Amino acid sequence: MHSLEQRFRDLAAQAAADFAAANDASRLETARARYFGRQGILPDLMKQLGSAPADQRGALGRLANEVKAAVAAALEKRHAEIDRKTTAAPADLDLTLPGRSHRPGRRHPLTQTLDRIVEVFRGLGFAVIEGPEIEDNWHCFDALNTPADHPARDLQDTLYLKDGRLLRTQTSTVQIRVMESHAPPIRIVAPGRVFRRDEVDATHSACFHQIEGLYVDEGVSVADLKGAVDHFFRALLGPRAKTRLRPHFFPYTEPSFEIDCAADALGIRGKEWLEIAGCGMVDPNVFKAVNYDPERWTGFAFGMGIERLAMILHGIDDIRLFYQNDLRFLRQF
Ligand code: DAH
Repeated sequence: MHSLEQRFRDLAAQAAADFAAANDASRLETARARYFGRQGILPDLMKQLGSAPADQRGALGRLANEVKAAVAAALEKRHAEIDRKTTAAPADLDLTLPGRSHRPGRRHPLTQTLDRIVEVFRGLGFAVIEGPEIEDNWHCFDALNTPADHPARDLQDTLYLKDGRLLRTQTSTVQIRVMESHAPPIRIVAPGRVFRRDEVDATHSACFHQIEGLYVDEGVSVADLKGAVDHFFRALLGPRAKTRLRPHFFPYTEPSFEIDCAADALGIRGKEWLEIAGCGMVDPNVFKAVNYDPERWTGFAFGMGIERLAMILHGIDDIRLFYQNDLRFLRQF
């Protein structure tokens, strides 16, 4: 039978051979447990130290510690070798090839434009509100002072559902919904989708986006409307932006205007003015429809197409590009 001393001396070589034979992390772990585990060889030998003759105990103890350190070092070394083996590049990996990039997504250019518009109106104290895309004739036309024989209601022009409801043709519907459910004063913008029976071409789409605005209070005048319009377009298009109000007709405003922007300030040639939005002072008949007292309340409203603004902002010449999800287009924004 080996003396305890001999068994300690053999141990270092035996452990080194065991570790070398373990060629992956899980086998090395098994080997580690064989030596260092609770029932392992090293704790077992250490226990036996206690029963060695007293005059040998000191020397044996020192030897035991040396052996233990040597086994631990052999284990550590093998760990490092296995780690290096598993993380090393395979021979056929070409590190000089360009990597695969993961491009983060981004917001759609229409959403970006809408966010900028909303930010300016929030700065003026307007709240953002949304209304339904499927509407009834009351909210889309009647309450907006648009009588039943108005051409905009023609079955040819407007998309009706079988039950008589329709896809809203304008976000002006939200004016009515807000005034029906809130007492004045009102200060809101309402972005959203609208639908028209339009032939699709470079400047028309059967579905597009608008943003509506409504301001109701006592003593509101055209000067307030003009001030808000000027501020908005300068904030959106730059301090050089110039607008004018051109008399027009909308059933729900009186007087009504179209807002034109000076083309040269936008870097657009071949035209003096670009028509960009509609607006006006809320018609007293609209106030009557929502039971507001038209003698007391005054206000202005406006509406504009988001696609049209985005096209002007970015020099885009075909509205269909917004809906095709072509990454070559979308990645430019
Ligand atoms: N609803 C109009 C359209 O779809 C835009 C508009 C014009 C909205 C004048 C308004 C307004 O609120 O006062 O073309």
